[in-house]
Amino acid sequence: MRVFEKISETHNFLKTVKARGLSVGFVPTMGALHRGHISLIEQSLKENNFTVCSIFVNPIQFNKKSDLKNYPRETTSDFQKLKSSGCNMVFMPSNDEMYPEPVNTQYDFGQLDKVMEGKHRPGHFNGVAIVVRKLFEIIMPDKAYFGEKDFQQLAIIQYLVKKNNIPVNIVPCPIIRENDGLAMSSRNVRLTPAERKEAPVIFQLLKQAKEKVPSLPVEASGKWIKEEFNKYPSIKFEYFEIVDMETLQPVKEWGECKKIIACVAVHLGKIRLIDNIILIS
Ligand code: PAJ
Repeated sequence: MRVFEKISETHNFLKTVKARGLSVGFVPTMGALHRGHISLIEQSLKENNFTVCSIFVNPIQFNKKSDLKNYPRETTSDFQKLKSSGCNMVFMPSNDEMYPEPVNTQYDFGQLDKVMEGKHRPGHFNGVAIVVRKLFEIIMPDKAYFGEKDFQQLAIIQYLVKKNNIPVNIVPCPIIRENDGLAMSSRNVRLTPAERKEAPVIFQLLKQAKEKVPSLPVEASGKWIKEEFNKYPSIKFEYFEIVDMETLQPVKEWGECKKIIACVAVHLGKIRLIDNIILIS
C-alpha cells in the first residue's frame, strides 16, 4: 500500500495511474477506522482498479474545539486495517499541507443545511464541502464512496458535485452496525462502558418508530420518540426529524412524498451520536 503525505506527489502519482487507463475509487475519512469505513473501501475495490483512502481530521468542520481535540487518532491500527482490506493507497496530509492559508469559501446549499446537522452544527457542512472538494481535486477519482450513516452529508456532497459539475460519481453505501444495532462510529470508542451499554437504544427506538408508520401520525411519532429517549437519564436528546429523503425538509404527513427518512442526534455523556432509518422508500 502506497502512503502519501504531499499533495503534489499524490496528484502526480494518480495522474500516472489514470494515464494507464485505471479507474480510481476514493474513500475520504477522518481515520479511527472501523468496519463501516472498511465497507466503503471494499465497495470501491469491487468497482475500481485503484482505491485511495484519505485520512485527515479536518479542523474546519468541527464547530467545537473540544470535539476536534478529543477526536480519536489511531494511525498505526488504521494502516493495518487498510493494508489488510487491500486498499492501494493512503493520502494523509498535515493541516499545513491542506490549509497553508485560511480558506473563506462560503457554499450555499439552499435548504439542505438548514435542518438537522446543519442547523445544530453551524459551519460544519461548509467545512466538509471545502475539504471534500479539495480532496476531489487532488485525487481526481472516478467514484467516491460515502456512508448513509451521515445521510445529510451525503446529500450535501451530491448537491455540491451536481451544482459545480464536478466529474465524480458519488456512491452511497449502507450503514454498518455493531451486533447490538449501534451504528459504527469513530466516536463509539469514547463512550464509557455504561454509555456503550445504553447506546443500542438509539437504533431500537428508530426501528420501533418505523413499525408505527403509518398508523401513528408524523407529529405524534416525533413526540413519542422524544418521550422514550427522555426515559434514559444518561441520554440527552437533541433532535429527531422525519424528512423527505431528497430535499431533507420535514414532512407533516406520511403521504406528502415518496421517500421518507427519520434522523436522530443524541448525546451520551460527552459523546454526540447520530443515526437514521428509512421509514418509507
Ligand atoms: P468519517 O466520519 O471518518 O467518515 C468517513 C466515511 O465513512 C463517511 O462517508 C461516513 O458516512 C462513513 N461511515 C462512517 N460510519 C459508517 C457506518 N457505520 N457505516 C457506513 N459508513 C460509515 O464523514 C467524514 O469522516 C468526514 O466528514 C469527511 C467526509 C471525511 C470529510 O472530512
